[in-house]
Amino acid sequence: MDAESHRPDSTLRFEMKRTHHCNELRPAHIGQTVTLTGWVHSRRDLGGLIFIDVRDREGRTQTVFDPSDLSAELFKRAEQLRSEWVVAVTGKVRRRPEGTNNPKIATGEVEVMAVSLEVLNVAEVLPFPVDDPEAAARVNEELRLKYRFLDLRRPEIARNLRLRSKVATATRVFFDEEGFLEVETPILFKSTPEGAREFIVPNRREPGTFYALPQSPQQFKQILMVAGVEKYYQLARCFRDEDQRADRQLEFTQIDIEMSFIEREDIYRLIEGLLKRIWKVALNVDIPTPFRRLKYEEAINRYGIDKPDTRFGMEIVDFTEEFRGSSFKVFSGAVANGGVVKALNAKGLAGATQGQMETMTDTARSFGAKGLAYIKVEGGEWKSPIVKFFTETEKAALTAKLAIEEGDLILFAADQWLNACEILGKIRLYCAEVLRGQGKLNLPADRFDFLWVVDFPLLSFDKENNRWYSSHHPFTAPVAEDIPLLKTDPKRVRGQHYDIVVNGTELGGGSIRIHQPDVQKTVFEEVLQIPPDLVKARFGYMLEAFKYGAPPHGGIALGFDRLNAILCNTPSIRDVIAFPKTAKGVCLMTESPGSVEPKQLRELHLELKVPRKD
Ligand code: AMO
Ligand code: AMP
Repeated sequence: MDAESHRPDSTLRFEMKRTHHCNELRPAHIGQTVTLTGWVHSRRDLGGLIFIDVRDREGRTQTVFDPSDLSAELFKRAEQLRSEWVVAVTGKVRRRPEGTNNPKIATGEVEVMAVSLEVLNVAEVLPFPVDDPEAAARVNEELRLKYRFLDLRRPEIARNLRLRSKVATATRVFFDEEGFLEVETPILFKSTPEGAREFIVPNRREPGTFYALPQSPQQFKQILMVAGVEKYYQLARCFRDEDQRADRQLEFTQIDIEMSFIEREDIYRLIEGLLKRIWKVALNVDIPTPFRRLKYEEAINRYGIDKPDTRFGMEIVDFTEEFRGSSFKVFSGAVANGGVVKALNAKGLAGATQGQMETMTDTARSFGAKGLAYIKVEGGEWKSPIVKFFTETEKAALTAKLAIEEGDLILFAADQWLNACEILGKIRLYCAEVLRGQGKLNLPADRFDFLWVVDFPLLSFDKENNRWYSSHHPFTAPVAEDIPLLKTDPKRVRGQHYDIVVNGTELGGGSIRIHQPDVQKTVFEEVLQIPPDLVKARFGYMLEAFKYGAPPHGGIALGFDRLNAILCNTPSIRDVIAFPKTAKGVCLMTESPGSVEPKQLRELHLELKVPRKD
């Protein structure tokens, strides 16, 4: 039976409106006549009967076609049904026969004995199954993205979209209760330097000029504070032309927030309240507040990263003083160079394979280190090419500070402070992955370690270009007592910046802003060394606005896609975005981006230097 010879018989006279959705029927409905509409999830022919599971957005229900109750024509129609055909089935609800309940589905105690069937549409054979999660998971992702409309029918992905919608609603309700206004800001904006690469849009009205898509509504939300809005939020679409990763897309959504007359503590309280609400609504989990706070320097020292996963220990320990005068020159040499010696104890990993050791050594090398010193504690011995250089005092210090025991793997980094910490920070996460794979580290799916990372340096120095850059963005206010250092010792200036981190993911970040036009001008021109005419061209309107009564203000943005990925317990934000792009920035379903007509280019006064792609 092909789809062609079985045209839908009643697309236009859709008489059988649903009475219940497919996740609704329970024993209480037994005896009622109901109509279900949806897709043929599965068909089984058993003992002369045909079983059709009808699926809709909510779930699925088993319907049964019994030839002894039905006309031959109707039964034949049921026999012709194939996966994903669209149907309406009317029938009587009954209890399933003894021993045939399906505890995996909510409607599993009942079934619908069909009395009529309408085929609302046929479907071709699917390029991949949507009814079997394991089979679907094996299908390559490109095929799934090309047929995203089918992928979205899979209950796992459909559930993610529903959760996302629920979280968006809870967010809006929360902000409404808190007295915030949702204000939309332009998508056609203009190019501003500092930050990720932008998407630009040519302007036909004045050839040679361009809009840029906003990386975030940062500047508009600050202007809204000058405008007296006081409390702003928006579920804002942002665009950044960055390399794609599991937690990054070219376009993504932020819960974007700005408030006037506040300090950092007010933002912490607000966001803790918001996340508490979201976790309750989405997962029925009560997350404890207030969240822990960790200074940036401490995060780097202990975890080697500014978004630490604090669900497990394996903390980095400092041995700079112990090895200052060591006869092991790799360590004492690093200290003499102004560097540090750091180590961590990967408990239970003494049996790491050659391949795993190489992966870790490659990580160290990718940071410019010459290698990765280690000790494997096996058979009561310290197996390592370097212990022969250690004194008894050095060994005793290692044993005490790292609580060394049989089965441990000790890893060292001797380097400049940030590098040494970051090497071990990466290795710490790698070791945790290995231990998880071996079942030696258990991180329950319902454990959420939230923390604020605070006291970031305002600026970071870029050696290549020999200049300072904003660690976050140029509107972040320095900690008040550090303002005098801006011109004399920029490296020591702390920013009033904060990041919210959960289980090793940076969920969001924000800051108290500069609201004094003179301080903002100093940051642009003297600290960041942006030429005054460029400052005027790019940010003149902001400096101008700030002259007319800018209230003290600050805000934050949370990555809405990342937030949902965490709630859905999925590693990739693609799973919580209806129509995501691939790592190459392509939408495989619509085949975007694509070429444009020569006429369009002419109108824009643009010429291609590459051959036109068709
Ligand atoms: P920031 O650049 O830190 O701050 O972004 C805030 C949050 O947005 C999310 N995010 C992304 N999510 C998916 N794909 C991306 N490419 C991507 N880039 C960022 C992250 C991140 O923590 N205007 C400031 C906020 C402020 O200062 O108020 C801003 O955009 O979860
Ligand atoms: P070498 O003396 O260069 O052969 O190094 C001795 C050991 O120290 C080897 O195991 C190297 O992998 C390791 N090593 C080299 N440089 C570093 C470093 N910067 N930090 C930690 N270990 C290192």
